[in-house]
Amino acid sequence: MKKIAIVTRDCAGVNAAIRAVVRSAACYDIEVAGVVRGYEGLIDGDLLLLNSRSVSGIINLGGTILKTARCKRFRRPQGQKKAVETIKKNKIDAVVVIGGNGSLTAANILSSKYSVPVVGIPATIDNDVNGVNMSIGADTAVNVALDAIDKIRDTAVSMERIFVVEVMGRDCGYLALRVALAGGCEDVLLPEKNYNFRDIYKSLIDGNIRGKVSWIIVVAEGKAKAADVAKKITKTTGLETREVVLGHIQRGGRPTAFDRILAARYGNYAVELLAKGKKGVCVALRNDKLTTQPLSAVTRVKDMEVESYCKLIKILT
Ligand code: F6P
Repeated sequence: MKKIAIVTRDCAGVNAAIRAVVRSAACYDIEVAGVVRGYEGLIDGDLLLLNSRSVSGIINLGGTILKTARCKRFRRPQGQKKAVETIKKNKIDAVVVIGGNGSLTAANILSSKYSVPVVGIPATIDNDVNGVNMSIGADTAVNVALDAIDKIRDTAVSMERIFVVEVMGRDCGYLALRVALAGGCEDVLLPEKNYNFRDIYKSLIDGNIRGKVSWIIVVAEGKAKAADVAKKITKTTGLETREVVLGHIQRGGRPTAFDRILAARYGNYAVELLAKGKKGVCVALRNDKLTTQPLSAVTRVKDMEVESYCKLIKILT
């Protein structure tokens, strides 16, 4: 193995993972090419040689120094073939893909359809990668959203209002659930669960009669729009409600210690695997031990335990 390429998506901790891959590869005298703008750069042959020095001072930075993009072209065989051409032309022996479901699905295509040696590193604030307990970026996102919720609580209590806070999470309520529990929020709406809105309105009205004046309800973007939920609550209960959409701030920020450590371990392990000739896998953690999942298994959204967390949120509010 002489040369590997790194393709990235963005979230906090991705730079720490790039650093870990580059510096671990240096131990094996493996050259590393960073791919600029994700799969777009792989198709266009936009590569940047990285060495131990060029990844210094990035462990604490959010985003990805390589830049990234959503890449529609890779969905077509024509785009995939051009990406494979770049790999061959630049004598790349293996690719490390750092990203979430979309990036790992593309990684699986490179591996299974074109026999490119690939190792995936899960990195997504959604933490929805099947078979992977923790993805890089999820812990930082929970903490960023929590910080915002704590601030919203200050004004919610002072103004005696209900706040509906929309967090990211397209198909998976991980972020919503963790933030609702950690933020002492009164309710949470998840893509994984069905809700009877009448029950929600009733609990607000009953609570208000008992003297409760402020609530924070967290909603995952994949379940509903905060604006719609807030409007319905005001209309049905008469209680003053505001909506807040946290949006992309959740994907940025300085990675937490947890994410930096996870990135260091995943990045190093990915290189160790490639050096040993392993491919077609995604790194994961089980009981704090590094392990792998087949790439073909990580492309679907994971089933997450929600009931015990929802029960706890109800008991504690
Ligand atoms: O997959 C990560 C994520 O941040 C989701 O939570 C969100 O739905 C989506 O990406 C937003 O994508 P974009 O930045 O392309 O709008």
